[in-house]
Amino acid sequence: MGVVGRRFFGFVIGGSLPAALGANWLASAWDQNAGLFAATPTSATLEEVSLRWLLDVLTLPAGCGGAFVTGATVANFTALAAARHAVLARLGWDVEAQGLFGAPAIQVVVSEEAHPSVIKSLGMLGMGRDRVVRVPVDGQGRTLAGALPELQGPSIVCVQVGNVNTGSFDPVSEICRRAHEAGAWVHVDGAFGLWAAASPRHAHLLEGVAEADSWATDAHKWLNVPYDSGLAFVRDADHLRGAMSLTAAYLPQGGRREPLMYVPELSRRARGVDTWAALKSLGRSGLGELIDRNCRCATRFAEGLSAAGFEILNDVVLNQVLVSFGTPEVTGRVIAGIQEDGTCWCGPTLWQGRAAMRISVSSWATTLTDVDRSLEAMLRVARAVS
Ligand SMILES: Cc1ncc(COP(=O)(O)O)c(C=O)c1O
Repeated sequence: MGVVGRRFFGFVIGGSLPAALGANWLASAWDQNAGLFAATPTSATLEEVSLRWLLDVLTLPAGCGGAFVTGATVANFTALAAARHAVLARLGWDVEAQGLFGAPAIQVVVSEEAHPSVIKSLGMLGMGRDRVVRVPVDGQGRTLAGALPELQGPSIVCVQVGNVNTGSFDPVSEICRRAHEAGAWVHVDGAFGLWAAASPRHAHLLEGVAEADSWATDAHKWLNVPYDSGLAFVRDADHLRGAMSLTAAYLPQGGRREPLMYVPELSRRARGVDTWAALKSLGRSGLGELIDRNCRCATRFAEGLSAAGFEILNDVVLNQVLVSFGTPEVTGRVIAGIQEDGTCWCGPTLWQGRAAMRISVSSWATTLTDVDRSLEAMLRVARAVS
């Protein structure tokens, strides 16, 4: 599919910025193995620089450790491994050495709307897909902070900024306050929502996010670098290194930041190169403008569809729009018709029991003109179906 197209609104895919794509091609041609500083000082340095810029633009604490991984799934896994390391280390348990057999039980809290990749990560870390406590959410998918269970012993609370359907944000500040009072670790899944920090108009949605202990996001979504590229950040870099470190006599480690000490892999592609190029080409204001423009586009979609009499199922706070064209059957036929028409592409979803079409605006190339052209096609198809 033409996912780099300016009118591709499926999933939350993002496009590829020209500078990031060029840098990605160069990095592939250079064929750098970015695991070790000694093997590829340039790409390791570009990771260092990118990490500094990322923490700045995402308004996260400057001293965080960072991991350049494949996507938000592995970023969630990596950050939650650091969380597991930290909450058990506090009790004197070395989980990397001893494993989980006989370890103190960790209480893990997620919302009913936690992304499946968080649940999968917990499973991969031996913390169990099914033994998590699920907290109810409101009509936008936001965790009800008042419904958090009592936290006792080693605990990890997972929150979400940017619900994959509605774009909504958990009340992170309040959850952090309650969790930290009980000594729990707070992990934020912000696969695309964390990028709202770059936009002065949307940064307020992230109130309290910098108080968390770890964060996961995707560069291949809203930073618009080519697949695959995810990022994990951990407030105390020692915990990330504690979970991810690898030593071997044949691998020289110097005084510089060694990428392999922060990620699950040893050999890996030089993701820092295209991330650096994306940030360098956009600059702080360019990234903010990209986020703002995408959100303006989403609002325009919602206004246009609503004015035509179709129901918008979410509060459009970010870049995601859910629209119902009537019954599930009619909505399904309109989605199929839009895909067939080819002016733009959107996919189906189910939101709190209701069938909807989901529009996600996350490409650097999308303009308001693209929205108007897509709206014209959507309304034409919807009229023909009904
Ligand atoms: C909120 C959220 N978390 C995690 C993920 C997983 O990201 P990835 O597909 O990059 O592993 C997604 C993907 O859509 C997401 O929206």
